[in-house]
Amino acid sequence: MTYETITVEPIAGALGAVIRGPNLSQPLDQQCFAEIHAAFLKHLVIFLEDQDLTPDQLLAFAGRFGPIVNYPFVKDMDGHPGITEITKTEADTLNFGGLWHSDTTYLPKPPLGSMLYSRELPPRGGDTLFANMYLAYETLSDGMKAMLAPLYAVSSASLRDKSEGGARSRIAAQTGRGQNVDQRDMAAEHPVVRTHPETGRKALYINCAHSSHFVGITPEESRPILHFLFEHMSRPEFTCRYRWKVDAVALWDNRCSHHYALNDYQGYRRLMHRVTIEGDTPV
Ligand code: SIN
Repeated sequence: MTYETITVEPIAGALGAVIRGPNLSQPLDQQCFAEIHAAFLKHLVIFLEDQDLTPDQLLAFAGRFGPIVNYPFVKDMDGHPGITEITKTEADTLNFGGLWHSDTTYLPKPPLGSMLYSRELPPRGGDTLFANMYLAYETLSDGMKAMLAPLYAVSSASLRDKSEGGARSRIAAQTGRGQNVDQRDMAAEHPVVRTHPETGRKALYINCAHSSHFVGITPEESRPILHFLFEHMSRPEFTCRYRWKVDAVALWDNRCSHHYALNDYQGYRRLMHRVTIEGDTPV
């Protein structure tokens, strides 16, 4: 696509691009939105910097991509349903999203994508890493692709909390926003390789935060293959790293990318506003 209303600057070979031009505080015309949407599908994660937005303007932009849904474990910001405040204070030791994952794959319809708007940042650190799951799939051998093709994997909400020593529960408590569902009840089965509903490309769709085992294969039997795939998916050449500036909006495609919030800013505060966009049933 030739862009006429925006410029697109890739930040790495694998994925990620900064988009310049749009002012998200104003309604975007059809062409501008179509170009942003095309860049989103091509680059998997996009960043729009220097955006001075009210919560309603943030929600209006996110809502162009699809209906807004609640994040299951952390309550919405007071007065602004659809926005979750992700806060790490000077005293907190744990962070939210500090391992490679695709969001909430334990839901039957995991989100299409998520949007983060940076409000307060540490003087250094607190970057977010992203990884390209199309590349992770495409670089597997034909034999491995054939083996994975018919498989489904179980995603469990409790796995991540267990692996992080109850981190998410404690984060919810630390942020004072509590939990609004019982996480133990949430699990879903999804294809290990999914076909992106908009691009038609195949992507690996398991993640080390939530995928516990393959359907019909025990956790012990699944573990060596999952271990190999989790290592493979996070190869540095499949990733990009975004260094946040205040007032930046990021949007990632949860259907074909993973992300990882770095926790390397102990003693400093970081506050993000997060919006989740409804997805479909992976196939
Ligand atoms: C998340 O996993 O949604 C948080 C990402 C971040 O704070 O950088």
